[in-house]
Amino acid sequence: MLLPATRDSIARAAVLLRQGGVVAFPTETVYGLGALLFDARAVARIFEIKRRPSFDPLIVHVADRAMLGEVVAAVPAAAETLIERFWPGPLTLVLKKRPAVPGLVTAGLQTVAVRMADHPVARALLEAVGSPLAAPSANPFGRLSPTRAEHVAKMLGDRVDLILDGGATKYGIESTIVAVEPRPALLRPGAIALERIEAAIGPLERTGRTSEVRAPGQLDQHYAPATPLRLIDPKLVAHAERLRAGVIALQDPPEGYSASRTLSRRGDLREAAANLFEMLHELDALGLDRIDAAPVTEAGLGLAIMDRLRRAAS
Ligand code: TXA
Ligand code: MG
Repeated sequence: MLLPATRDSIARAAVLLRQGGVVAFPTETVYGLGALLFDARAVARIFEIKRRPSFDPLIVHVADRAMLGEVVAAVPAAAETLIERFWPGPLTLVLKKRPAVPGLVTAGLQTVAVRMADHPVARALLEAVGSPLAAPSANPFGRLSPTRAEHVAKMLGDRVDLILDGGATKYGIESTIVAVEPRPALLRPGAIALERIEAAIGPLERTGRTSEVRAPGQLDQHYAPATPLRLIDPKLVAHAERLRAGVIALQDPPEGYSASRTLSRRGDLREAAANLFEMLHELDALGLDRIDAAPVTEAGLGLAIMDRLRRAAS
């Protein structure tokens, strides 16, 4: 069931969650699929609905510092700085978990990924529930993240108890994930540019996709449309090959493709990040043979955009 997010529907969602239900809700990054953190059976339903391998840990959402205290054992100084600077907002921190956090949520890790979203509906929902929620992105495992309630409805449909519709999400790309211990490290580029985090706490170690797997969710194939996607300069693609294909580029995609999307006419990477999943969903719905995606520069939000495109292509 899909309902516009109102005071009433949020109250209803909170009741469903407290009864062990699973509810999709908007955040400023992408839509999340929430269940009560301390109800392992409800959390298990998230894995079931997403068809997510159980070794991939979930992100936990909190409304305030009190809830954070229910989830993590300690907040080291670097994390404190990041919290002051970026919460509420699209930054996820990996911290030591409290024993009460179910192992299912963290896939057996002693750490937990936690964030405080900056979205009125997410915040109202957490406050109404009064408990932290486990809430990964509301897409089937390995597929594009949803930036609209309709995406959730299409991909997960009646497998969820309720979808709260809060319109299109602001950032359109997932949160940046940072671990502070043992050394500060970027686990997933995302809606907050790496440069801004480094300005706050100094250089971060970059854990590439092939390095020691600190984010088990960093599987290569992730965020993929059903249509095959390749990362290529579309200007170099022969005209005959453009006919039944779609193209997506930051600016000025070449002519001759059956469908084309421009991420940002102005070449603005923030706007491009916000449009990325949305436009990939649109191209994916057209039944094309292939999608050609043009690389973007890996500065600022370009890093997160390229991360998602590489995974979509692999
Ligand atoms: O913007 C977002 O972060 C969205 C919204 C809904 O909050 N959520 C999201 O969650 O993208 P999800 O579950 O799709 O991605 C979570 C990522 C996964 O790659 C997972 O492996 C990683 O976080 N992760 C979770 N717990 C972790 C931990 N303890 N250590 C390292 N990585 C962790
Ligand atoms: Mg996800």
